[in-house]
Amino acid sequence: MPAKLPQKIKSLRKKIEKIEKQARVDLEQAQTQQELENVRIKCLGRNSELAQLLKLIPELSLKYKPEFGRLVNTLKRTLEESLSGKNVLLRKLKQEQALKIDITMPGMIQESGTIHPLSQTLQEIMQIFLNLGFSVAEGPEIETDYYNFSALNIPEGHPSRETFHTFYIDTGDLLRSQTSPVQVRVMEKQKPPLRIIAPGRVYRPDATDASHSFMFHQIEGLAVDRNISFADLKGTLSVFINAVFGSKTKMRFRPHFFPFTEPSAEVDISCIICGGKGCRVCSFKGWLEILGAGMVDPNVFSAVKYDPQHWQGFAFGMGVERIAMLKYGITDIRLFFENDVRFLRQF
Ligand code: DAH
Repeated sequence: MPAKLPQKIKSLRKKIEKIEKQARVDLEQAQTQQELENVRIKCLGRNSELAQLLKLIPELSLKYKPEFGRLVNTLKRTLEESLSGKNVLLRKLKQEQALKIDITMPGMIQESGTIHPLSQTLQEIMQIFLNLGFSVAEGPEIETDYYNFSALNIPEGHPSRETFHTFYIDTGDLLRSQTSPVQVRVMEKQKPPLRIIAPGRVYRPDATDASHSFMFHQIEGLAVDRNISFADLKGTLSVFINAVFGSKTKMRFRPHFFPFTEPSAEVDISCIICGGKGCRVCSFKGWLEILGAGMVDPNVFSAVKYDPQHWQGFAFGMGVERIAMLKYGITDIRLFFENDVRFLRQF
């Protein structure tokens, strides 16, 4: 027996060397956690060569046991350490891969939106009046009968109060059918002189078609001061019209009736398509109606406790969609509200 010992230990060392070498090759080749697991089973599993060596230990005589045990256990530790080292490496690689930026990939396009044509029109109009010294006022979209009608000198029984012209809600209030009530709200709070414009949404129960929408936008204007005349109204509106539609655009006032102004007029511009010759857009009239206006009715001043003997004013109201449609040659009002990017991108 003793004579065999060196040989046994020697061949054991060789075997261990072989196992280690093979393990190095296997570990080198393992590229995934699954492959690494297979290597672990091969090196440390129940049927591994290591396991067989470990099984031998109890059978060995006391003489060989310590040396044999030491060598085999060292092998076991070496294999375990190599495996866990590779495990850490693979996990790190995987993390790096996940973070890796491929600079040859096409970039992500950040689509930038455009300002809605109505907002653009609204901003343009507001800027013109701001330059003329007007300031911006706002009022609620849910209004009372008083502000939308009574205070504006619109009597009981007036057709605009009918349910087919105004949306009423359960509380007895209504969705404002015009921005004119903002005039009253501002005058109640502010002492004259004042110059305001009031942009906002208005609602009317019209059937939707190319030129009607149950909701649209208006801009109201109001100027109150001493000695304001119809000439001031004309001058202000002509500045506005020339700024929006060009200096060649002509303006005309047609007598009309609005309960809250006296005298009242509808204001037309020479057709921006045909220049006044007559075309389909202006129904061959050469003129396009763009707003209503007039001198503030004394009854409206009385409603807000302004003395009509001391104060005069002019007012006007226009539809923003109409202005935008004329300006950009848009023929269907519904396009503003459908949010079709093919339409919106053009502005
Ligand atoms: N509120 C009117 C409408 O919706 C427009 C209007 C006309 C406003 C004359 C005014 C005005 O301030 O003076 O049809």
